[in-house]
Amino acid sequence: MNPKEKIIVPLDVPSFEDAIALLDKLPEVTFWKVGLELFTSSGSQILEVLKSREKRIFLDLKFHDIPNTVAGACRSAARYGVDLLTIHATNGRDGLKAAAEAVQQGANQTGVTPPKVIAITLLTSISSRQLAFDLRVPLELPEYTLEMALMAKSSGLDGAVCSPQEAKQLRESCGDDFLLVCPGVRPDWAEKGDQKRTFTPTEAVKSGANYLVIGRPITAAKEPQLAWEKICEELSNFG
Ligand code: C5P
Repeated sequence: MNPKEKIIVPLDVPSFEDAIALLDKLPEVTFWKVGLELFTSSGSQILEVLKSREKRIFLDLKFHDIPNTVAGACRSAARYGVDLLTIHATNGRDGLKAAAEAVQQGANQTGVTPPKVIAITLLTSISSRQLAFDLRVPLELPEYTLEMALMAKSSGLDGAVCSPQEAKQLRESCGDDFLLVCPGVRPDWAEKGDQKRTFTPTEAVKSGANYLVIGRPITAAKEPQLAWEKICEELSNFG
């Protein structure tokens, strides 16, 4: 895969107008992430613009509900022709299976390719302590995320979102065809911001990441286009 196609840039902005401004600033970016904030404010309008500009779309809405409702949401999302879609692993096996079937149905309805459905194993904002004492999960955090990824895989999902730190183990346990989408990526020269344990783009790919979600090092750079090119060059040098 061309290294440029591995980088997903989040449209982490509050409005449709801000999203268009960011798209215009970074014309070479091919893969964009639309999350809850932008989708809630601008709806499907932004997806239509991305499709008309022939961009790939990661619709990161992290669905979590009863299987019938999650399946309906996945069917609707698939009709737009998005490329990646997230749902929580904690939907449970029935919900995950229903989602995997629903994207096929939705895509068939509009004649598009079904999106890859990607599991959220555990939000990275949840610490080991919170997992044990608030969520009352009696497993260590790495073991829990691995169990969630394995359940997602055996339920027919295509991959998981994970920190680059978990990528190596998930790649070994879930196999080569399981997609790993990693945020928490920072080039050496970029500010870490609120991301605590970061990997460089090259380290993340070496650990097994298929896609890197890289936001502020590009979008908040003085010259976003230059930052984007620098990251692409780093990845091309790695091969
Ligand atoms: O600006 P930055 O590179 O930190 O952006 C990372 C993107 O990935 C943001 O949209 C953030 O919400 C998302 N994300 C994350 N950690 C996760 C899941 C998603 O940083 N575990």
